[in-house]
Amino acid sequence: MLRTHTCGELRLDHVNQEVTLAGWVQRVRNKGGLIWVDLRDRYGLTQLIFEDGSSDKGLLEKAAQLGREFVVSASGKVIERTAKNDKIPTGSIEIKVSQLEVLNAAKVPPFIIEDETDGGDELRMKYRYLDLRRNVIREKLQLRHKMMQETRKYMDGQSFIEVETPVLIKSTPEGARDFVVPSRVNPGEFYALPQSPQTFKQLLMVSGFDRYFQIVKCFRDEDLRADRQPEFTQIDCEMAFVTQEDILNTFEGLIKHLFSSVKGIDLGYVEHMTFAEAMSGYGNDKPDLRFDMKFVELNDLAKGKGFAIFDSAELVVGICAKGASEYTRKQIDELTEWVKRPQIGAKGMIYIRYNADGSLKSSVDKFYSSEDLKTWADAFNAEPGDLMLLLSGDAKTVRKQLSELRLKMGEDLGLRDRTIFKPLWVVDFPLLEWDEDTKRFHAMHHPFTSPKHEDIPLLETDPGAVRANAYDLVINGVEVGGGSIRIHDRPTQQLMFKHLGFTDEEAQKQFGFLMEAFEYGAPPHGGIAFGFDRLCAIFGGSDSIRDYIAFPKNNSGRDVMIDSPSTIADDQLEELSIRVSLKK
Ligand code: AMO
Repeated sequence: MLRTHTCGELRLDHVNQEVTLAGWVQRVRNKGGLIWVDLRDRYGLTQLIFEDGSSDKGLLEKAAQLGREFVVSASGKVIERTAKNDKIPTGSIEIKVSQLEVLNAAKVPPFIIEDETDGGDELRMKYRYLDLRRNVIREKLQLRHKMMQETRKYMDGQSFIEVETPVLIKSTPEGARDFVVPSRVNPGEFYALPQSPQTFKQLLMVSGFDRYFQIVKCFRDEDLRADRQPEFTQIDCEMAFVTQEDILNTFEGLIKHLFSSVKGIDLGYVEHMTFAEAMSGYGNDKPDLRFDMKFVELNDLAKGKGFAIFDSAELVVGICAKGASEYTRKQIDELTEWVKRPQIGAKGMIYIRYNADGSLKSSVDKFYSSEDLKTWADAFNAEPGDLMLLLSGDAKTVRKQLSELRLKMGEDLGLRDRTIFKPLWVVDFPLLEWDEDTKRFHAMHHPFTSPKHEDIPLLETDPGAVRANAYDLVINGVEVGGGSIRIHDRPTQQLMFKHLGFTDEEAQKQFGFLMEAFEYGAPPHGGIAFGFDRLCAIFGGSDSIRDYIAFPKNNSGRDVMIDSPSTIADDQLEELSIRVSLKK
């Protein structure tokens, strides 16, 4: 062993012991006859002291040569520090070094390897292995490790079996584009990397595995955002012989276990809300319930009073921001400009101030009396001191816009506290979603999701109204997981493909294997998959999942450290029977 202890371990109890530590030099302070070195490893930081007059004459010179990030091993006696540092656990002691060995020299790192760094994003990604030396990043990966272990512990405890499914597969339509891999031995043919193990986990249910899970990499070629990576990890799960309620209970159990074992938090009651309620109450299928500001619809009260914008709108709807009546005219104008930005696209915004003295002041006083405004305030359950903000227009669009405004107000008023966790099951999602571009219905979740039994006749008459046995788990406005009860018989699966615009031949070609499996005794089954990276980011209090992935891609899908993706040699292309012609 090159060390007897770690750099985070020594305390006053160890005083007078001879020890050997190994690690990286974080800082050197040279006072001539006295040199202090902070030595770091993943466990902590320990101060080394080199003094004139030690038995090894060259020791001080050797220490003076040390640079940042040199890898060294140092032996000596643990002594009590005269000036203690109560900011670090080892701050009461230091090592009076008698022997120093440089295990490896290091170039000056391109950025400072401390919690506060001077390195920009791109630089830190290029030297990710150095970035990972920083405590703040390492702690995030340790959190991920803990979450992974606790997930396995819980799932194993519930009799789930972890099974690995293949990575070179055929595409499963889940909404995103596939990453494809050319097959050398089958010229002109391609594998696809899994967007999820969906069909395999269903086949495992046909095989009788009954309870499956896997912590698994998934690949989706989609536009990247803070909470999306092209390769990400799911906790993928499936169960047979269960109802939707059984699945929700089992996985509420998982999430509660993670919160209590990793964060020491009792998550409490997990609310259930239908998709329809989420859309009308929050304009969003993943509402952030850390704050209220539920939508209030005002059609009955606001229409027919001569204000043309409201009169012609399909929906007049608003939110009430508690205690925000003191917003200045300038702040309100800024909010109005904010909702009018192309990303939001509202035409304008109406405000009603409920002043502390009980009077009401709005931007539409010309059209509405104070009695009218009082009826609105009552609809909002508003009190003096509140500010009401209204938008109007086509119902679907205006709900989306108001949802953005609600989130912004929540943020601005400091109501989106990262230490508070509000979980929610959203249930009864629509089965199908109309796509304007392709002019046809798409599966909102995926084509294997079962329609609600009582809604099946609607498939013929009003497909958009059919509800699915599908559910999402939302925490603090983030979709952390989603799943459904599946179709498990051939005729229903065929009917579903028909409604999705597949011909019988296409359905057979792509999913014949699954439909055939359904004919060999498929049990009723259902499941869910959690976005593991997202779950980690929520636990860690971050918006971005990147820091929770050891080697992530940047926003253009590049790994700037290994410089990938990259071109490949012509003979490699030839071997794969690929001719490349790049579009300019
Ligand atoms: P879904 O597509 O909803 O369902 O994915 C499940 C969860 O995975 C996370 N997620 C992502 N995380 C990071 N980067 C991405 N690009 C990304 N895409 C999705 C989300 C999401 O809730 N097979 C079904 C599950 C099932 O029906 O059982 C599926 O994959 O948190």
